[in-house]
Amino acid sequence: MSLQIKSFEEYREQYKKSVENPSEFWGKVAENFVWKKKWNTVLEWDFDKPEIKWFDGAKLNITENCLDRHLETRGDQTAIIWEANDPSEASVKLTYKELHTKVCQFANALKKQGAKKGDRICIYMPMVPELAIALLACARIGAIHSVVFAGFSASALVNRINDAQCNIVLTSDGGYRGVKKFEVKSIVDEALAETPSVEKSIILKRTGCVVTMQEGRDIWWHDAIADMDTHCEAEEMDAEDMLFILYTSGSTGKPKGMVHTCGGYMVYTAYSFQNVFQYEPNDIYWCTADIGWITGHSYIVYGPLASGATTVMFEGVPSYPDGGRFWEVVAKHKVNQFYTAPTAIRALQKNPIELVTKHDLSSLKTLGSVGEPINEEAWNWYNENIGKGNCPIVDTWWQTETGGIMISSLSGVTPQKATFASLPLPGIQPILITEKGEILEGETKGRLAINHPWPSIARTIYGDHKRYKETYFSAFKGMYFTGDGALRDADGNYRITGRVDDVIIVSGHNLGTAPIENHINEHEAVVESAIVGFPHDIKGNALYGYVILHDGVAHSDTLRKEINNQIAHSIGPIAKLDKIQFVSGLPKTRSGKIMRRILRKIASNDIDQLGDISTLLNPEVVAEIIEGRIG
Ligand code: PRX
Repeated sequence: MSLQIKSFEEYREQYKKSVENPSEFWGKVAENFVWKKKWNTVLEWDFDKPEIKWFDGAKLNITENCLDRHLETRGDQTAIIWEANDPSEASVKLTYKELHTKVCQFANALKKQGAKKGDRICIYMPMVPELAIALLACARIGAIHSVVFAGFSASALVNRINDAQCNIVLTSDGGYRGVKKFEVKSIVDEALAETPSVEKSIILKRTGCVVTMQEGRDIWWHDAIADMDTHCEAEEMDAEDMLFILYTSGSTGKPKGMVHTCGGYMVYTAYSFQNVFQYEPNDIYWCTADIGWITGHSYIVYGPLASGATTVMFEGVPSYPDGGRFWEVVAKHKVNQFYTAPTAIRALQKNPIELVTKHDLSSLKTLGSVGEPINEEAWNWYNENIGKGNCPIVDTWWQTETGGIMISSLSGVTPQKATFASLPLPGIQPILITEKGEILEGETKGRLAINHPWPSIARTIYGDHKRYKETYFSAFKGMYFTGDGALRDADGNYRITGRVDDVIIVSGHNLGTAPIENHINEHEAVVESAIVGFPHDIKGNALYGYVILHDGVAHSDTLRKEINNQIAHSIGPIAKLDKIQFVSGLPKTRSGKIMRRILRKIASNDIDQLGDISTLLNPEVVAEIIEGRIG
């Protein structure tokens, strides 16, 4: 594939070019795609406004790049391999021709239900092939998809649907995940009672569970596509038209609807996919993420399909029917590139090694990691037992906001270093900087910012450009601030050390502390609460909550359960607290700010060096909290 860098020397050359003349560099990369009309300018940008335009004036449809253009060259090649939750259920293989047909057919069904260019369509579905078809069908007609992970609660769904004013919801009756058969439609029903903008809902039958259909609003997927033409002209989109919205937690306030646009996102996800994973024709590539997250958008659907790859979609979980499932699937489909999260690796490494060794993993060429820092033990286990010491590991650092992989080795091409994401991709210019804004050179440690746009940077927060500016472009003038800390070694390799704000990454999922605290505080027994993260050997971090109750309310496990139910109800089970300690007060500064540093140390049982607490408003509370700490 012409986009691929094949040697370290070439990487250095390309990197240099990408920094010296970004427009020329990305203009050349973009020539590898199908455009209905070429751009006027490659890049126009101003990080102060902030405003970023890639390939301005160009016209395209991303689905023509993901589907139509492959029909002649690889129409009969498998585009998607779908592996069911239950290993005894047959896998599904869709060729590029079949996928194209299904996308066009569903795109026509969407139009029939009233969908049109610019509409926001919410997708709340389990990991079935129709989920990928749904994304592509929206893109085909120029509707903006907003996928909400099907583990979020009804109330989280309400917020996201209302924020984007979606008029259509695509969903299923239920879904399977491990031993669980979970309801999906009933959650949507609960949500739709509070979402006046929604006019239609299309429901896929997956589990056959009983559902209530609302006349005039709800229609079955199979009825919606019946008699639909399998030809659908791709809508002409501006490069800067919105492709999708995807919500991510902020450290404060409601989730942020990150907006990605058509042209730059397509170019960068395909470019990074081909380079990081070094995908070769006929390879089988598997990313285990859910399409409800950015990793699934960029590296299950768009990047691989725009590259003509064969991409695996998995409905289940790594532990079902046993902890060898991932390896069984690798062997079954002869997977060549395998991309997962450190939390999965840590969980799987606890299993008897026979669950790995009984499967033939010899097809593997590249292993990937994403979502959180990978600790050395997990890295070594992955390398030795899964890669058999033969597969490069790409530790890919990026974010929902960046749209694509920013810092990572290129498999087998650039050097890897355990626990380091390593070098930036061409076009990515990382900076380490102090809290005060002094740029740091050489081997050092600091806050990670990026000082030049790349094609897949999110363009705004849907409906709140001011917040976009404040969150990402106000900490350091003229730079995008990531919210992460990092260190750089003498060779320029980056190691991400974790968030420097109040976002905690639990099992690879971003959780903001303030929104969870707000939900806890809504409980009638609660006065105030503070949440911090503490190290957890599988999840990476887990949540520890300190909760002040009203006078006279008894401390009880029932109350702990109620608090967690409240969180599960308002956000989703992923945000539940591992430990809840009832306290009489929280350590505060004289200006009333909670000293989270102290709470973090206590939660992590690192109580020897709490630092000076004498300046606190209420130093006496610290001893009480240490005393009542939940170990
Ligand atoms: O803290 C970083 C961490 O995940 C955050 C982004 O989360 P999200 O938007 O949900 O996207 C996750 C998938 C791209 C980052 O700010 N993170 C992601 N990848 C890594 C990582 N931390 C360390 N190493 C990584 N490879």
